[in-house]
Amino acid sequence: MSPFAHVTGWGMAVPEKILTNEDIAAIVETNDEWIVSRTGIHQRHVAEKGETTASLATKAAALALAMTTLDPPDVDLIIVATSTPEHIFPATACLVQDALGAGKAGAFDLSAACTGFIFALNMAAQSIRSGSIRNALVIGSETLSRWINWEDRTTCVLFGDGAGAFVLEASDRPGGVLSCTMRSDGSGGELLSIPAGGSRYPTTTETLARKMHTIHMNGREVFRFATHVMASATREAASRAGLRLSDISLVVPHQANLRIIEAAARGLKLPMDKFVVNIGDYGNTSTASIPIAVCEAVGAGRIRPGDNLVMVGFGAGLTWGALALQWVATEKRVRPAKRRRRTILVWLAHARSFFRRVYRRIEGILWGGRAKAGP
Ligand code: ACO
Repeated sequence: MSPFAHVTGWGMAVPEKILTNEDIAAIVETNDEWIVSRTGIHQRHVAEKGETTASLATKAAALALAMTTLDPPDVDLIIVATSTPEHIFPATACLVQDALGAGKAGAFDLSAACTGFIFALNMAAQSIRSGSIRNALVIGSETLSRWINWEDRTTCVLFGDGAGAFVLEASDRPGGVLSCTMRSDGSGGELLSIPAGGSRYPTTTETLARKMHTIHMNGREVFRFATHVMASATREAASRAGLRLSDISLVVPHQANLRIIEAAARGLKLPMDKFVVNIGDYGNTSTASIPIAVCEAVGAGRIRPGDNLVMVGFGAGLTWGALALQWVATEKRVRPAKRRRRTILVWLAHARSFFRRVYRRIEGILWGGRAKAGP
């Protein structure tokens, strides 16, 4: 049993297609000035045909895994935090497991809206620290553009698509996930929801006509809630980790609205340069926003080994939470031979998956034939 869980790999993926504020102004009555001044968003990436929550998740996860010495068959657990799964079931995480060729991994989805990545990271870290697994792939992935009412200007300007992934590994070296605070308040569930499509309101012509399969939000109330919880959750996670605010190198907040992040900075009495902000380029990508922000901050040299980070988020549910982490990862150089071996393993896993499907079909036909031939 190893007492620490470290981030050893990270990766992100966003669709190529970009929708600017001007593009949205051609769809609904809005304008760049309103969107930028109220949210800080300039553009968002939007999935095209064929791009899905699982395909973005798989891309981000493959990049994260490629930074480590793990091969796909070494992965113990895959958690996909998402609000926009491919199906009610099977879990998107299972599709990612198959696509990666992670033949020995357990896989499940976690639904906690935009706070999902923090909750998933904590669950994976606790499983590692308990000794039940040695490593985990934690992914936040969304295709929110598929759930937007493109006639509702109060929501369609806010969201974007994308994915981010971390590899967590057991270690005896101090650091990694230090603490987490996880909170929820279901009395606020109606403030932000996709009302239909589940078992309460199955799809009918009425639910479709009333656009109950798209995001419904009371923006002002969500804004008020978010400005309350971001600072308090950050403080709580830091203090549980035995850190003072001055010990925190960087806060990585959920990217929902620049004004919410500024309010959190004021609440914590921290300067804005202690916060990672990239909402301008991506909009609100829900569970993907925090890992994408971390990937960009590492790429820009803003996160270095030894740094204490707090990731903090809020979302539908209502849910909110924060996780303190000491970053110890240094990029490992994976040798070309290892990379080739990994590519071959993935191809073999795809071939195995293909033949399993074919085998099941043939078996089904044979068994179906026998059933018909019975008494
Ligand atoms: N373009 C132009 N005008 C607009 C637009 C738009 N896109 N949207 C709303 N307006 C108008 C409204 O109709 C209103 O007009 P009125 O005064 O004539 O009625 C005016 O702008 C002000 O509207 P408000 O709702 O008061 O605007 P506000 O300053 O609150 O900003 C916003 C709205 C950006 C939605 C803000 O409330 C917010 O960010 N809330 C939090 C949302 C959030 O974070 N959601 C994600 C949670 S994470 C998850 O779980 C998915």
